[in-house]
Amino acid sequence: MEILIKNIRVIDPYYRIDNIRDVLISGASFSQISKSIHKKNPKTIDGTGLWLIPGLIDMHCHLREPGNEGEETILSGSISAAAGGFTTICCMANTDPPIDNKVVAGYIFEKAKNAPIKVLPYGTITAGRKGTSLSPMGELSEAGVIGFSDDGNCVMDSLIFRRALEYSKPWGKIVVSHSEDQILAKNGVMNEGILSTKLGLRGIPAEAEHIMVYRDISLAKLTGAKLHLAHLTTKKSLDLVREAKKKFKNITCEVAVHHLVLTEDALSNYDANAKVNPPLRTQQDIRALVKGIKENIIDAIVTDHAPHSEEEKGSGIENAPFGMIGFETALPLAMSLVKYGLKPIQIIEKLTIGPARVLKIQPGTITQGAEANCVIFDPEKEWVVTKDNILSQSKNTPFLNKKIKGKVLYTFHRGSIVYSDKSMS
Ligand code: DOR
Ligand code: ZN
Repeated sequence: MEILIKNIRVIDPYYRIDNIRDVLISGASFSQISKSIHKKNPKTIDGTGLWLIPGLIDMHCHLREPGNEGEETILSGSISAAAGGFTTICCMANTDPPIDNKVVAGYIFEKAKNAPIKVLPYGTITAGRKGTSLSPMGELSEAGVIGFSDDGNCVMDSLIFRRALEYSKPWGKIVVSHSEDQILAKNGVMNEGILSTKLGLRGIPAEAEHIMVYRDISLAKLTGAKLHLAHLTTKKSLDLVREAKKKFKNITCEVAVHHLVLTEDALSNYDANAKVNPPLRTQQDIRALVKGIKENIIDAIVTDHAPHSEEEKGSGIENAPFGMIGFETALPLAMSLVKYGLKPIQIIEKLTIGPARVLKIQPGTITQGAEANCVIFDPEKEWVVTKDNILSQSKNTPFLNKKIKGKVLYTFHRGSIVYSDKSMS
């Protein structure tokens, strides 16, 4: 099958390309990219006014299989991710049972064979994610996990975390830390500050993050292992990473889209869909996170896609679980950061080659001969997020019924169309 995309803006951070081109996809790869391609009868897409970007990589999401298939399965999650432009996603290990042995890891890989995109699981750091003894990290690594994480929980015991970093080294895989002092954050619902006081909700102080970011960086320096700090939210955390990165190459970090585009104000009406962990912070923090992207302190932008049922989210803000879905809104929301002076290519970099470098996987590029993993994006198209048009099985997003600008029209994985917007058929 051949698909000719005419007159499209190709944005490829790997080769720093940002040009209008014609692009021909033949079979699983890009067969020609040039100013003008003429072909007899291929399926043709008019790319005028549209962007062609490499398939996105999400190095941090939650699928709920095994254990909570009513909220998301590997298949439903990967269909939702494809609709958001992702062609590789890495799912966290907090399933039920957790991915803490080769059998569960094997189960994920087996299910992933039916997914339209690539799904790579993490294995846990500790057995059962209980934080008390290490998981069989060698066994998990041999089973093919992409890294280790107890995400959702912080490994509070510093000796166990130190050992995890040490044991991860021979496998060359990252340890992803959910850096939060869970004693200090206990029973917290949102960012601690004037607003939490006004709303009568228990706060999670920024210090709960800083304390653990400092500990984790210290232990990464001590062990020389590859530490990746998940979903950082504050200026102080980034200052700590900035300082560490001056000398140490083994420390990387990410930010979640929602922490870049929402503040704690999203909880003013007690919207449980805006309850995430770590919590939404302040405008000042957003500015620091954007600066972190500009200065390459932040390596990756992630979704932290976290599906939850309507019943759970409707159980009152104090009881509701943390998390929001994010695959299908990620790219347009991330693109809204151009208002802070970020260039589209800088934002796309953090959704493609940034995470690829952290994970040591092949980054996607739009070049002749490369595997055709790519996204056609309309930067101007406005649409309203609704329960009906979201493909994720769960609908827990504070963007429900809100208009957003920018829409994925097509996603290609290995040359096949794995998602096309309704308006395109
Ligand atoms: O908001 C969150 N949701 N943060 C986490 O750390 C876990 C995640 C989930 O699994 O729902
Ligand atoms: Zn997470």
